[in-house]
Amino acid sequence: MIKIRGLTKTYHMGKVTVPALREVDMDIPKGQFVAIMGPSGSGKSTLMNLLGCLDRPTSGEYYLDGEDVSKKSDNELAEIRNKCIGFIFQSYNLLSRADATSNVEMPLIYRGVPPRERRAMATKALESVGLGKRIQHRPNEMSGGEQQRVAIARAIVGGPKVILADEPTGNLDSRSGEEIMVIFQELHEQGITIILVTHDPDIARHSERVISLKDGKIISDEMVQDRLDARECLAAMPEPDVSA
Ligand SMILES: Nc1ncnc2c1ncn2[C@@H]1O[C@H](COP(=O)(O)OP(=O)(O)OP(=O)(O)O)[C@@H](O)[C@H]1O
Ligand SMILES: [Mg+2]
Repeated sequence: MIKIRGLTKTYHMGKVTVPALREVDMDIPKGQFVAIMGPSGSGKSTLMNLLGCLDRPTSGEYYLDGEDVSKKSDNELAEIRNKCIGFIFQSYNLLSRADATSNVEMPLIYRGVPPRERRAMATKALESVGLGKRIQHRPNEMSGGEQQRVAIARAIVGGPKVILADEPTGNLDSRSGEEIMVIFQELHEQGITIILVTHDPDIARHSERVISLKDGKIISDEMVQDRLDARECLAAMPEPDVSA
């Protein structure tokens, strides 16, 4: 699904050059659930932005589903992003004035899906993340976990091949984070390729494979031996204290 060779990204800040990624090679088969770890500044977000076609490498090759993405025009990249990739950020990145349905519909508008069909697809995506009762809520009328679930619905509404999530549980309490991991586990069971950045080793243990970066290079790449089941983890957590 994903093949990168010699992927390099260097940022230029006036006279200073910052090597954020250095000749990274990586192969991720279709359907794999991968966690990316590494200290702050190790290049995780830089890698995700390149994988998500939000940015271009300084050098190197990137093949997504067999296509050489490094040679595409900006318009072609925008189309690949819209059709193949679902991106989820730590800070949700929702439109604050728009309700949940409108936020989820956004990628379908760019794709020219007619309004009624769009609305039906958005409702279905919101139901699939457990937000059937929140479709008219705006972001400030929802908890962080609910907002992140809206962001996931927006990422999956167009049927992406790859989900890229940069610290999706970073702003959430452990229970809301685990609820997000249940959704990722379901998406993985549906065969979607998932790449997730996390600082949390317990979150990484929900994936099949952990790739660690340091100073823009891969320093380890291991299959997870003792995977955690998100549904079991969630069930073992204490119920939220509603009286508080
Ligand atoms: N737009 C940019 N311009 C200049 N330098 C950048 C830019 N984005 C990132 N960098 C630099 O590139 C390096 C890698 O940054 P990156 O954001 O990929 O790290 P990260 O692993 O995601 O860190 P964190 O865990 O803090 O999110 C850092 O040294 C950072 O300062
Ligand atoms: Mg980052």
